[in-house]
Amino acid sequence: MSGYPIVTKRRLAPSITLLEVKAPRVARKAHAGQFVMLRVSEQGERIPLTIADKAPEKGTITIVFQSIGFTTKQLAAMEAGQSLADVLGPLGRETEVEKVGRVVCVAGGVGIAFIYPEIKAFAEAGNEVISILGARNKDLFFFVDEIRDLSSELHLCTDDGTLGAHGLVTDVLRGLLEKGERYDKCIAIGPIPMMRATTALTKEWNLPTLVSLDPIMVDGTGMCGSCRVTVGGEVKFACVDGPDFDGHQVDFDELAKRKRAFVEEEQCLLAQAAEELEKQRDDTNTETPS
Ligand code: FES
Repeated sequence: MSGYPIVTKRRLAPSITLLEVKAPRVARKAHAGQFVMLRVSEQGERIPLTIADKAPEKGTITIVFQSIGFTTKQLAAMEAGQSLADVLGPLGRETEVEKVGRVVCVAGGVGIAFIYPEIKAFAEAGNEVISILGARNKDLFFFVDEIRDLSSELHLCTDDGTLGAHGLVTDVLRGLLEKGERYDKCIAIGPIPMMRATTALTKEWNLPTLVSLDPIMVDGTGMCGSCRVTVGGEVKFACVDGPDFDGHQVDFDELAKRKRAFVEEEQCLLAQAAEELEKQRDDTNTETPS
C-alpha cells in the first residue's frame, strides 16, 4: 500500500480526533516535543502536528488534532485503512529533558495531547510531575487516565465548572503557588492566550517555563520563514529552533498576529468545500433512479 496507512481512528472529544499512523522510520526516531508535517493528499497543503505518542515496535505514531481548518477537517473525515500522502519527520528539536525535581505541567484544550509526551518524558527521567489540565467543559477531556498514572497530582478545571475546579488553569496554578507549593520547572502548552497568561504568572514567581509554539508552518525545515517567532528579541524559526522556547522570552502579541494572517483564506477554502459538498448532495438527490 502506498502512503502512510491509518491504523486506528478514535474520536476523543467533539472535534478532537486521534489517528495512529504507520510511519516506522518516524516512530523509531521521534522524541518528546517533535512534530511531523503531513499531507492528506498529493494536492493537499502541509500541516504540522505534534507527535503525541509513538510505538516503535509497531512502527506507528499517534497524532491528535482539532478539526478547525480545511485540512484538519479533511483529516478528520479519513478512516482507518486509508492512507496519508506524506508524513515527514520527526522535525523540530526534541525537548531537553533533565531531572530537575518537581515539574508542573499545564495544558489547555488540545494542548493536553501535546503535553502528554512531555509528561511521560519528564516522569521517566525521575521527576515528580504535577499536572493541571483545563478544558471548556467536561466532554473535552481526554488522556486523563494516562496522565493521572504519570503524575503525583492531577488537577482538572473547566470554564463552565462541569468538572474539577470552576475556572482557568492559571487560577489553579496560582492557588497552588499561593498555598506554598514550589516547582522547579513549568511546561505550558495550549492556546496562545493560555500560554501567555501562564507565563505571565510564572514570571511573577520566578518559575522557569517552557512553552511549545505552533505558528503557521509551510515547509517545516527552516527554508520558508513562515514560522518566524521573536524570542528574547531575536528572530527564531519554530520548526528548527523550536517548537519549545523559554516562555518568558516569547513575544506572544506578534505570534497571535501572525497566526491570524491566513484566516480569510482559510474561511474561503471552508466555504468552497461546503459548496462542493452541497453540490454533490444536490447531484445525488437529482439522479434518476434506474
Ligand atoms: S516552516 Fe518554513 S521556516 Fe519554519
